[in-house]
Amino acid sequence: AVSGAPEQDLAGLSVVVSAGGTREPIDPVRYLGNRSSGRQGVAVALAAAERGAWVHLVAAHVDDGVLARVLPHPSIGVERAGTAAELDAAMRAAAAEADVVVMAAAVADFSVPEVSDVKLRKEDGVVTLDLVENPDILKGLVAERRPGQTIVGFAAETAADDAELRERGIRKRARKGVDLLTVNRVGWTQGFESTDNTVLFVDATDEVVAEAAGSKRAVADALWDAVLRLR
Ligand code: CTP
Ligand code: CA
Repeated sequence: AVSGAPEQDLAGLSVVVSAGGTREPIDPVRYLGNRSSGRQGVAVALAAAERGAWVHLVAAHVDDGVLARVLPHPSIGVERAGTAAELDAAMRAAAAEADVVVMAAAVADFSVPEVSDVKLRKEDGVVTLDLVENPDILKGLVAERRPGQTIVGFAAETAADDAELRERGIRKRARKGVDLLTVNRVGWTQGFESTDNTVLFVDATDEVVAEAAGSKRAVADALWDAVLRLR
C-alpha cells in the first residue's frame, strides 16, 4: 500500500458500530450515565471506513470533539441513540443489513421504569430509585445473527492482574456468544478519558488470540485484523 493510504482490506463490507455511553433519564434534568467518551468506538468506525468499509455509526452519548471527527465523513453514516432502548432499536435495524457488528457502546445495565415528568425535589424527601434491568442488546443481536455475520463485543473490566482479566474475558465471551470480545482493563485512572488503550481479544476458541496496546486507532486496527482472520 502507498504510505498514508491504508490497504482497502475491508472493501465491500458493510459494518455497524455503536459508540459512547447511554443515558437513562430519571427526571427532566437528571440521568444515570457512565464515563464512556466514545473515543474507542469512533476510532473503530474511522478505521473501518479508511480500510474501505461502509460504516453505520450508532452514537450514544459521544463527546462533541470526538463525534466531530466523523461529521461528516463520506463513508460513515451517523445515527444517534440516547438510551439503551433507543440503542437496542437502532442496532437491531442496522444489524439486519450488516456483515460485521461491533458493539463498543457502554450500555447502562439498569434504567428507571417510571421517569418523573417533574424535577425531583429535596423537599419531597430522600429519593429511592427502583431500577429495572435493560435488555442485553448484544445477546439479542447474537440471537438474530445473519448467516456469515461476525459480531464483536467489548468488555471493560476491573481486575487485580492480567490472569484475572483474561479469565473474566474468556467467561464473558462465552456468556455473550460473540465471535470476538475485546477486553480492556479499567479503573479510576485507566481506560476512560485516556487516548491510549490496552486490550486482549478473545474468540470462540476460548483463547486470547491477539493483544494490542497504543492509540485507540491502533487498537481499532488490531480489532479489524482479528475480524478479518475470523472471516
Ligand atoms: N451490552 C449490551 N447491552 C447491555 C449491556 C451490555 O449490548 N444491556 C454489551 C456492551 O456493549 C458490550 C458487551 O455487552 O459490548 C459487554 O458489556 P458489559 O457491560 O461488560 O457486560 P454485562 O453483560 O452488562 O456484564 P457486567 O455485569 O459485567 O456489566
Ligand atoms: Ca454492564
